[in-house]
Amino acid sequence: MEDLKRTQSTEDGITTQGHGETEKRRLCHRVTASPHHRVVLHPLGSGVWALDSVRLSVKIDSFKYPDGTIALSDVNLKIKKGEFVGILGSNGSGKTTLLKMMDGLMKDFEGNVHLDGVDVRKLYPKEIYKKVGLVFQNPDDQLFAPTVFEDVAFGPINMGFAEKEIANRVNNALKDVEMEGYAKKSIHNLSFGQKKRICIAGLLAMGHEILLLDEPTAGLDPMGEYKMMNLLTGLNKERGVTIVMATHSVDLVPLFLHRLYMLSKGSIVRGGTPEEVFTAPEDMSNVKLRLPEIAELIYRLKHEDNIPFEKIPLTIGEARREIVKTLKAQGKGGGRI
Ligand SMILES: Nc1ncnc2c1ncn2[C@@H]1O[C@H](COP(=O)(O)OP(=O)(O)O)[C@@H](O)[C@H]1O
Ligand SMILES: [Mg+2]
Repeated sequence: MEDLKRTQSTEDGITTQGHGETEKRRLCHRVTASPHHRVVLHPLGSGVWALDSVRLSVKIDSFKYPDGTIALSDVNLKIKKGEFVGILGSNGSGKTTLLKMMDGLMKDFEGNVHLDGVDVRKLYPKEIYKKVGLVFQNPDDQLFAPTVFEDVAFGPINMGFAEKEIANRVNNALKDVEMEGYAKKSIHNLSFGQKKRICIAGLLAMGHEILLLDEPTAGLDPMGEYKMMNLLTGLNKERGVTIVMATHSVDLVPLFLHRLYMLSKGSIVRGGTPEEVFTAPEDMSNVKLRLPEIAELIYRLKHEDNIPFEKIPLTIGEARREIVKTLKAQGKGGGRI
């Protein structure tokens, strides 16, 4: 990941105000009473995770908020086991609304959302929440206990585990999010990025197999963004956690995500790999987004300065190879790629 090494800054304290007490109370009621164990995918012989079964299938014909705002329409997508998928869209495009529907929090829509083949509207909340967990954009809407341990332990306690199992789950979850040693720390004194990690730990301690994350890198500094994305990549690759994240961070996407759905004005306008989704700057500005900066530069050099690049790279590493290749082809390069 040579692109990452270039970033020098550190993840640190942006604090936020405002506590979504309603959301917190609702989350408190979400925990399941039945014991649940972390499920890890079995690797295929080749070491590649099985990606065959569809976990979430979403078909939303239309959803309107009570004030008449049509937030989603014609949304069709499928999330397979073990995938790391992005929902990419500008502010107000419907990302948060869509995640809430995938988590069964909003049911008043036309269409259907299936979790493991069953309509979420026919499932009891605890049947949804033992598999799917939503991490809110603002950690202060999710965290509520005085200390890290108490917050992460809240789910396992409500699931009825014995004290030792609770401690194990909390410790493992804190290790997973690289926050060992913070158990006794006051939530209040954590940095914004650390709070986001504790939110994720709280869901991992309950053993969620599918994590839905609403703008997990929002509010983090550049190194914090990469650390968060590396953490999520690790959970996905090593723990087999299926991840869906809403984001508008176009520069991060090609480095980490398998597949993308692009949302604009409540509808999916494009889906596919980052290479398939990031095409021309005009297509992106039409949906109030842009290409990754490096892609924009190469695109302009190709189309405005007629430099014959074969493809538009999406990362610094790819761009470096493409530039050296093009220079060499023109007899101007000497270095090794
Ligand atoms: N509670 C609400 N009542 C009315 N309109 C809402 C509500 N929440 C969101 N919206 C509207 O729904 C649309 C999608 O919002 P949202 O899902 O929050 O988008 P995003 O997360 O992509 O920024 C926006 O037009 C927003 O103003
Ligand atoms: Mg949002």
